[in-house]
Amino acid sequence: MLSEFWRKISASPAASDWDKTLNMSIRRLPPELINRIAAGEVVERPASALKELVENALDAGANQVAVRLYAGGLELIEVADDGCGMTPDEMRLALERHATSKLPEDAIDRITSFGFRGEALPSIASVSRLTVESRVRGADGWRIEIDHGAEAGEGPAALPPGTRIKVEGLFDKVPARRKFLRSPRSEYGACLDAVKRLAMARSDVGFTLEHDGRRVLTLAAAEPPARVAELLTHELDRHGIGIDCAREGMRLTGVISLPTFNRGVADQQFLFVNSRPVKDRLLVGALRGAYRDLIARDRHPIAALFLEIPLDEVDVNVHPAKTEVRFRDPQAVRGLIIGGLRRALDEESGRSAAREQAAAPVMWTSSAIYDQALDRHPGGSGGPAVEDSGIPAFAGMARIADEQRLFEPAPAARAEPAFEPVPAFPLGVARGQVAATYIVAEAEDGLVIVDQHAAHERLVLERMRAAREGGTVARQALLLPEVVELEEPDCDRLEGAAADLAELGLEVERFGPTAMLVRTVPAALGKTDIAGLLSDLAAEIADLGGPMSLRDKLDLVAATIACHGSVRAGRILSVAEMNALLREMEVTPRSGQCNHGRPTWVKLGHGEIEKLFGRK
Ligand SMILES: Nc1ncnc2c1ncn2[C@@H]1O[C@H](COP(=O)(O)OP(=O)(O)OP(=O)(O)O)[C@@H](O)[C@H]1O
Ligand SMILES: [Mg+2]
Repeated sequence: MLSEFWRKISASPAASDWDKTLNMSIRRLPPELINRIAAGEVVERPASALKELVENALDAGANQVAVRLYAGGLELIEVADDGCGMTPDEMRLALERHATSKLPEDAIDRITSFGFRGEALPSIASVSRLTVESRVRGADGWRIEIDHGAEAGEGPAALPPGTRIKVEGLFDKVPARRKFLRSPRSEYGACLDAVKRLAMARSDVGFTLEHDGRRVLTLAAAEPPARVAELLTHELDRHGIGIDCAREGMRLTGVISLPTFNRGVADQQFLFVNSRPVKDRLLVGALRGAYRDLIARDRHPIAALFLEIPLDEVDVNVHPAKTEVRFRDPQAVRGLIIGGLRRALDEESGRSAAREQAAAPVMWTSSAIYDQALDRHPGGSGGPAVEDSGIPAFAGMARIADEQRLFEPAPAARAEPAFEPVPAFPLGVARGQVAATYIVAEAEDGLVIVDQHAAHERLVLERMRAAREGGTVARQALLLPEVVELEEPDCDRLEGAAADLAELGLEVERFGPTAMLVRTVPAALGKTDIAGLLSDLAAEIADLGGPMSLRDKLDLVAATIACHGSVRAGRILSVAEMNALLREMEVTPRSGQCNHGRPTWVKLGHGEIEKLFGRK
């Protein structure tokens, strides 16, 4: 599915713009332009120096970039390219502040190269021992050495056409900076990340990376999708969604993970604006916004997203490391990202990572369940040894194993007689309830297990959402308005959000400095702990921060309300209720995962059951 999508996307059109920056001579920038350039520290740690050097190689038109590091770049950073090279005079100029071959016609508002300030090389040279070797085609090579800003010799050099820059002992003589460096290991991690980002940005260029004498990356020139696939987890083949959408002259392409395939840290999010890697807050926020209520707040999707936008719609000259940008129309960008990703996520909503065929048997034979099964059948011989997959998406199933419920005598379980043939419902017909928490259903093609709380929570949320969009949220007036005592800041937050909450059927009013009065609750909620709901909502609102659309806010609040209003684990359901839940899940968008991104159901296919019993 993913590869099909990727095939459609051609190489980034922005790549051709890079050619325009080549073959331009280096010059000192006029002072009025210097003052318009975002000033600041370019070099903070080895990874930032490395990033600047690789960017220069790419700006020089390299087809191949070779990076060598020792001790995470603390001892040595070396970047060699086969780009246009520099003459000895150009090399001298390159090492001066604010000398650049980029910025044609002082066009600081139409920047197509990575560099434009003429600041990186002299900055690095002032805090290290720097050796530049360079050779233009048809001439001899030359070498210039700079030791902490001072000239330290020059002479002829033997090298193929292109440039090789060596940085040794970065910050060795700058104790104030040295202090803030981390271990070689973590500096290496940051260097690897920098190379990956640039390699994704320019898939048409080949890269190699060597650390402490060991080759760690070899990337041949490729189309963007193939490059991204190589640098992200291969699991995305199964757990990824291809993105390709456009709006108002902008285009967004790339790949994102299914909500159920998520991570505890946001380290696998690669964002690009016109082929420039960025860590922009607006873009990160929009990505987060698209997954809102599909994923828990402390989990993060994986993404590689490429935004192409007309040059005059974006200013890249706002951040010293050039990793943040400013959009002329931030709302349009946000809208494209949230809208485009949300649509793609909705289209894939039935797909749950836990449903993946290959993964199911792993979970089913995970040790806790398996050991317990052996206890009950002491004569049982060993079965397949399977490791824990470690994939967070399977938290739901892992929980079954943890709580060791599956083989306990389950007082809540009632068997329903099997009847032939099984009606053709995707989620099957209910056969019983296990541990008062999971519905077991039989489908034509296998066994389905549903987490009743997770599933119902999703249904309540979608119902509330649909009702809200239809403008008909049913509310239920409380016979006696309830007074809920809360901290003053929480009351302030709820009071501020009162209009939004009313739209969801929850009418609250301030009742003195530290209390709120609740008049109505959403009908979908049923009987609920109103005080608990209010304090959760206040916490939710406190976390929202930042600019957020009303729709996003209401969605979040609705998710919190839904969680309070749904059937709890532990509630015994009748067969009719279970079947009603299954049928509603089949027709509800996004029912494959709960509001926290966990799967709501898993299916074990007949083939997998046969494998478990050694019949296949
Ligand atoms: N690998 C390279 N190959 C050819 N020319 C290079 C290379 N590295 C640097 N240069 C030349 O040296 C100049 C100065 O580089 P430097 O990185 O200091 O500034 P810049 O890239 O112009 O701007 P920025 O400070 O934004 O990176 C560049 O404009 C370019 O002409
Ligand atoms: Mg540069």
